[in-house]
Amino acid sequence: MAHRVAIIGGDGIGPEVTTEALKVVRAAGVALDTTDYDLGGRRYLSTGEVLPDAVLEELRGYDAILLGAVGTPDVPPGVLERGLLLKMRFSLDLYVNLRPFKSGPNRHNDGVDFLVVRENTEGTYAGEGGFLRQGTPHEVATQGSVNTRLGVERCIRYAFDLARGRDKKHLTLVHKTNVLTFAADLWQRAFDEVAAEYSDVGTAYNHVDAACIYMVEDPGRYEVIVTDNLFGDILTDLGGAISGGIGRAASGNLNPARTGPSLFEPVHGSAPDIAGTGKADPRAAVISAAMMCDFLGETDASTRILNAVDKTDDVEGTTSQIGDAIAASC
Ligand code: IPM
Ligand code: MN
Repeated sequence: MAHRVAIIGGDGIGPEVTTEALKVVRAAGVALDTTDYDLGGRRYLSTGEVLPDAVLEELRGYDAILLGAVGTPDVPPGVLERGLLLKMRFSLDLYVNLRPFKSGPNRHNDGVDFLVVRENTEGTYAGEGGFLRQGTPHEVATQGSVNTRLGVERCIRYAFDLARGRDKKHLTLVHKTNVLTFAADLWQRAFDEVAAEYSDVGTAYNHVDAACIYMVEDPGRYEVIVTDNLFGDILTDLGGAISGGIGRAASGNLNPARTGPSLFEPVHGSAPDIAGTGKADPRAAVISAAMMCDFLGETDASTRILNAVDKTDDVEGTTSQIGDAIAASC
C-alpha cells in the first residue's frame, strides 16, 4: 500500500530539496502517493491566502506531510510562520518536534550524537500577549509563555520513552529554573514525577545557558534532551552548527498519538539567495524524509537512506547530483 503524503515544497530552495527527498525515498523502495500543495509566500502574494481552513481539513486526511521551507523576503515576518507552519503544528497537535544531531569528531569535541525533543505547541510560541497603546511612548507589549501540565507531561513522557530505547538510556531536561520560577518549576516537577516511572533511565538537568557551553565543548554528555519550545528552537540551531551545519539538520513534527498526520521538514529556511542555483544541500530534507519513513513503519528503508547519506558524505555537486548519489547508494 502506498503511503499518502501531502507535499508542501514552499518557497525558495524548498521545492528543490523536497524533489530530491522524494527521489531518495522512492529509490529506497517506499511507495508514496503524493499530492502537491501550493502554499507559502508565492501563494500569499498572489491570492492573500496563507492556509485556508479547507486545505487544513484536507491535510488531516494524509498519512504524513513533507515540507520544504516557507518564507520569502517580500512577506513580513510572522505571516507565514504563524499562519502556515505554526498553524499546522498547533492545529494538527504536533506536540513533539524531534531533531536528531550526529557527526564525527571536530576541532571542538569528540563527536555529537543526540536527539532534542522540543515541545512544539506551547510556551512563548502559543501567542499569548498583545499591545497596549501601540505606537505611543507609553506602549506596552507582553508575550507570555503558556505551559500546561498536560502539554509538558506528554512531551516529557515521549522523551523518556525515546531515551529508554537508546544505548545510554539518558535524558537531560534543559530549562531555566533559576529565573523562570513558574514555568520551569512546572517542567521540573513533571519531569521528576515521570522519572519515577522510568527508573532505568538516567537523568540530568542543565540550565539552558550552560547547555549551550556543554553542547559545544562536551556534547558527548547528551543522548536525549527535552526542553520547551523557544529553548528548543535556539538549541537546535546550535545543534546543527556543531554537527555538520544546518544543511544536515532534520526534523519531525510529531503527533505521537497518531490522531492525524505528522509533518517532516528540514530545520533550515528557504534560503532565497541561493534558490534556483543548484547550490542547496538536500541532505536535511532527505534525512527528514527518512524520519518520515521510520514514522510510517518503513524502518528498513529509513535505515538504508540514513546509511546512504553517511556513505555519500563527501559527495559535492549540485542539489540534484547529491540527491542522485544518495539515491544510488540506497
Ligand atoms: C524552526 C523555525 C521555526 C520556529 C520558524 C520558521 C517559525 O525556526 O522550525 O526551528 O521558530 O520554530
Ligand atoms: Mn528555528
